[in-house]
Amino acid sequence: MENTQRVNHTSSSSSFTCVMSLDQQGVSSIPERYVFPASQRPNPNVQISTTIPIIDLSSLHDPSLRSQTIRKIASCSKELGVFLVINHGIDQYVMDDAKETARQFFNLPSEEKMKLYSDDVNKPVRYDTSFNHVKDEVYCWRDFIKHYSHPLSDWIHLWPSNPPTYREKMGNYAQETQVLQKQLAELIFESLGLNPNYLEEEIKEGSQVLAVNCYPACPEPGLTLGILPHSDFGLITILLQTRPGLEIKDKDNNWARVPYVEGSLVVQLGDQMEILSNGLCKSVIHRATVNCEAKRLSIASLHSLGIDTKVGPAPKLVDDQRTKSYKDFSFREYLNFLSSNDISKGRFIDTLKVKP
Ligand code: OGA
Ligand code: NI
Repeated sequence: MENTQRVNHTSSSSSFTCVMSLDQQGVSSIPERYVFPASQRPNPNVQISTTIPIIDLSSLHDPSLRSQTIRKIASCSKELGVFLVINHGIDQYVMDDAKETARQFFNLPSEEKMKLYSDDVNKPVRYDTSFNHVKDEVYCWRDFIKHYSHPLSDWIHLWPSNPPTYREKMGNYAQETQVLQKQLAELIFESLGLNPNYLEEEIKEGSQVLAVNCYPACPEPGLTLGILPHSDFGLITILLQTRPGLEIKDKDNNWARVPYVEGSLVVQLGDQMEILSNGLCKSVIHRATVNCEAKRLSIASLHSLGIDTKVGPAPKLVDDQRTKSYKDFSFREYLNFLSSNDISKGRFIDTLKVKP
């Protein structure tokens, strides 16, 4: 592989080659800039995790199954920080429409997408490639658009106007995930022994960011990644995807593939949930791999408390045995961290840990 002629890849802040255009050019090897050091490359032998449960949310309506489901949510929130949900209440056509409109967006000519380009992580709508292509030393095989999404009427006019159905279809999906995340937060809180309505108002008025990701087929998937290992900053992330590719760090700190189950959604706990639970729950470290067969699309709906609302350990989960293990933080403080740090070098949550 190393004897292939690699294209030197240069970018400035205002112009870059997105991976969609590398794909359209039909490159047969990836440019040098995308080649990860050997230690960070994906392992082709990674196994599909057998411990990530599939939670059937319809079981919550059955009194004889409900407590068992809550226990399942408790144990996987604590051990892994990830589970799949089925019968989650979001219609298949809403999910399919969101994926299709994402596909149409990334198929647009670069000039059209570049209208929404920004490298400023504080922008409410931002199209870019990799993670932040101005800062990243090695590029990820990913183009994305991120946009604030709740309350929808505050942001939707800033979203892509092309494809013409984008706002309607993505807006429907955003609203439905917003309903689901409230239900999931209540279940997780209940499973931790908190009042299910804990922070109810803050969650209702919280922030939702949709990260719409595009990972084109890649000629050398073993040398690069779609997204670097990270944990999400918020309480809960709901992930919709078109193909397998997501990997998580399991209990033993090994990478494991997340099973792909048609119609399901992946629920990942983020840094705010780990902190709120005073370390009982796990903010899951995850990454995305790419493949040589087909483009993969994903829509990560990141739910957190409001941008300036501080999250700290719930008082009920702090006592003499279990002292307060994290400092409080807000979404804005996370964005400030992102602006001045390289996420491949360290996790934000580690800067918040209180030494016993
Ligand atoms: C994210 C993310 C994973 C994926 O956008 O935060 O982790 O599979 N995406 O696209
Ligand atoms: Ni993520």
